[in-house]
Amino acid sequence: ATSNWSGVTHGLAGHTDYMSKEIAEQPETAARIIDRLAPMIADGSLWSGLNLPPFERVAVLGCGTSLNAGRVIANAFGALGDVPNSSLIASEASSAIMDPRTLVIALSQSGETADVLRAIDDLDLGTSSLMALTNSEHSTLARRADSMLNCNAGPEIGVAATKTFVAQVITGVAMALSALAATRRIDRDYARRQTDDLRRIPDLLAHAIAASQKAIPPLIEEIRDAQGFLFLGRGAGVVYAAEGALKLKELSYRWAEHYPAGELKHGPLALVEAGTPVVVIDSGDRRIESNISEVEARGGRIIRIGGAGSTIPALGLSLGTAMPGGIDRWGPLESVVPLQILARDLALALGRDVDKPRNLAKSVTVE
Ligand code: AGP
Repeated sequence: ATSNWSGVTHGLAGHTDYMSKEIAEQPETAARIIDRLAPMIADGSLWSGLNLPPFERVAVLGCGTSLNAGRVIANAFGALGDVPNSSLIASEASSAIMDPRTLVIALSQSGETADVLRAIDDLDLGTSSLMALTNSEHSTLARRADSMLNCNAGPEIGVAATKTFVAQVITGVAMALSALAATRRIDRDYARRQTDDLRRIPDLLAHAIAASQKAIPPLIEEIRDAQGFLFLGRGAGVVYAAEGALKLKELSYRWAEHYPAGELKHGPLALVEAGTPVVVIDSGDRRIESNISEVEARGGRIIRIGGAGSTIPALGLSLGTAMPGGIDRWGPLESVVPLQILARDLALALGRDVDKPRNLAKSVTVE
């Protein structure tokens, strides 16, 4: 699949920074991608157009936010089609020998990340194949892969990956659904229903932006001086907790760690003291309530991202009956919006440059 991206809005378009602009663009970016890919999902043509061999398992590979997007896609292959899956941290993946018939998906918005390029050079692919999922169709990664899928996010200027994450997840999940339909692991009706749910993502993102813009500014003064943050999730929400902690570190220069919420009592709970901010992604697993109680009993400050009544009610539309059981497939994608806005608003309150965080680069071309 090649790019048909058009409609670049140059400059800041009224925003104070590119990160703000790129967060705001996410609903429209998502809608454009889904409109283009949806007709190619249930009939399997998105997958067959990639001309890749049959596969029995999936491995994703990348760094930072691209690795998080890859983890969402790997989880979706498992949840939707029972495909065994794994993820590889590119900088640790050298000389990995792939199992036979593995579909290796290397994700990189820039397509130039040295750790990713080195890892794919060192992979012993055998009967496996390499697909690139990138926002740069002429990149080194795109050229070296057996096949390339452009996530078509459009230009992203801010060093923090925002809309490229959303674009990678949607493109990768659409590809996963198409591959599962093409190989008859799911039937076409099921693929169509999943596609209908993908079509709801732009509204979910827009709702999350509105809810976050209302709920987050009043929180910032309270958490401004906190030196460390915990991010918790369960199931498909864990990878979003990872993305939230990464964004907060990158932009605010505060310590942040993520955990599956059940792990709290096995160590990290010792970090919680009066006022410690603990961001909880509540995607509907009731067991999270006892984890929240554990934090509150130590005086921790819970920031719950969930449905109505949450500190940030950004997931309101996807919970309940609208997407039955749906949250497990690709997780609460719209939760990334309050996580991005929380990191940005805190960073701005601390006087950071949100488009160019210290020590970091948009394209990391050294190992
Ligand atoms: C994301 O906000 C970071 N800037 C960083 O983790 C980034 O995702 C990582 O360096 C990978 O970059 P890539 O997608 O261009 O390969």
